[in-house]
Amino acid sequence: MKKILLCITGSIAAYKSADLASKLVSKGYDVHVIMTRNSTKFITPMVFETLTKNRVYIELFQDDEYTHLTHISSAQEADLILVAPATYNIIGKMACGIADDLLSSILAAASPDKVIMAPAMNVNMYNNQALTDNIEILKNRGASFIVPDEGMLACGDVGKGRMRNIPSILESVNAFFCEKLLLGKNILITAGATREYLDPIRFISNSSSGLMGLSIAKACRNMGAEVTLILANSHLNTDTIKESINIVDVCTVREMYEATIANYKEADIVFAAAAVSDYKPKNYSEQKIKKADDTLILEMERNIDILFELGKTKTHQKLIGFAAESENLLENALKKLERKNLDMIIANGLSNFGSKSGGVTIISRDNITNIPEQDKETLAYEILKAVIKE
Ligand code: CTP
Repeated sequence: MKKILLCITGSIAAYKSADLASKLVSKGYDVHVIMTRNSTKFITPMVFETLTKNRVYIELFQDDEYTHLTHISSAQEADLILVAPATYNIIGKMACGIADDLLSSILAAASPDKVIMAPAMNVNMYNNQALTDNIEILKNRGASFIVPDEGMLACGDVGKGRMRNIPSILESVNAFFCEKLLLGKNILITAGATREYLDPIRFISNSSSGLMGLSIAKACRNMGAEVTLILANSHLNTDTIKESINIVDVCTVREMYEATIANYKEADIVFAAAAVSDYKPKNYSEQKIKKADDTLILEMERNIDILFELGKTKTHQKLIGFAAESENLLENALKKLERKNLDMIIANGLSNFGSKSGGVTIISRDNITNIPEQDKETLAYEILKAVIKE
């Protein structure tokens, strides 16, 4: 069980850390909370003791017990020290080497590369050059920072300074613990459903949500890769990943093709998870099509096959396609593997489309692996394990 030292400092955002503690516990982490004296003015230690089932420590000398030494060892035993919220003051203290209370002493004893800070403060404090310098100093020593959100601050000012939302903080924790098996790799992913317009407001598309591609993108990022995600018309929230993943928004197949080609040369692995329109309307009407006869015949023409084009010009890249099949899953998937010159194809039934979970069959030239139905975030890691093993 991974041990997290969750450190709370004196910001109004401290109340949000109760939710953070609860979510970390439910994800299976062993959470121990350290609070500064000021933070207890915003939220009581009892909240965290109840949520984590562990004693909360605040003072160097607590209940006549000299907690300094025990907690220096617990700083060393912790797998991660997460300071959320992190005030201007604690960042300054850690950067300048000040240890005048329990938390700053723990930070002084900890290796900076296992410290993640989620700053929360007034926008003017956040923009203060002293803070910028202190963050730079700490980053150079190995600590990580979770950039705050922008918005209305407790003091009434508007700007950057709200502690980052809890899902984003949880993602940073996930990324921290993920084995960096893809470090140094460049990964290119297509995802979502392309659109082909008939007129300015009508289009041909499909029900792919983009979740499989997005989950693969996050898992690759967490494993240390540089990730480019070519994303078509997805309604999924990408706020939590846009700083760490290069997202290129596209609409049509042509746009997806151009964005993919532009990033292809540098890619080591390509996942083509997008559901691409095989045909597009032969004629585009600049004006809205008016209704006329009882039937309307739409003439369509073949679209470019992005993955086929990538297969033709493949050099060092590992190409991984997806096959959505309603019948003869294995046979059809194998044909696509050959025709598109792929290294692997991930076959799935149509029920995975637009769904939060799914099961897949991973087919390479030598192996066939069945992965049972599970949520797509977990499935993404299973797929990556198979790709890395190949
Ligand atoms: N693909 C693509 N460009 C297309 C069509 C498909 O890049 N114009 C990619 C998809 O992203 C997927 C793989 O090719 O990785 C297979 O897609 P799929 O729709 O299952 O197969 P098709 O090649 O379109 O064949 P069919 O429609 O006949 O099943």
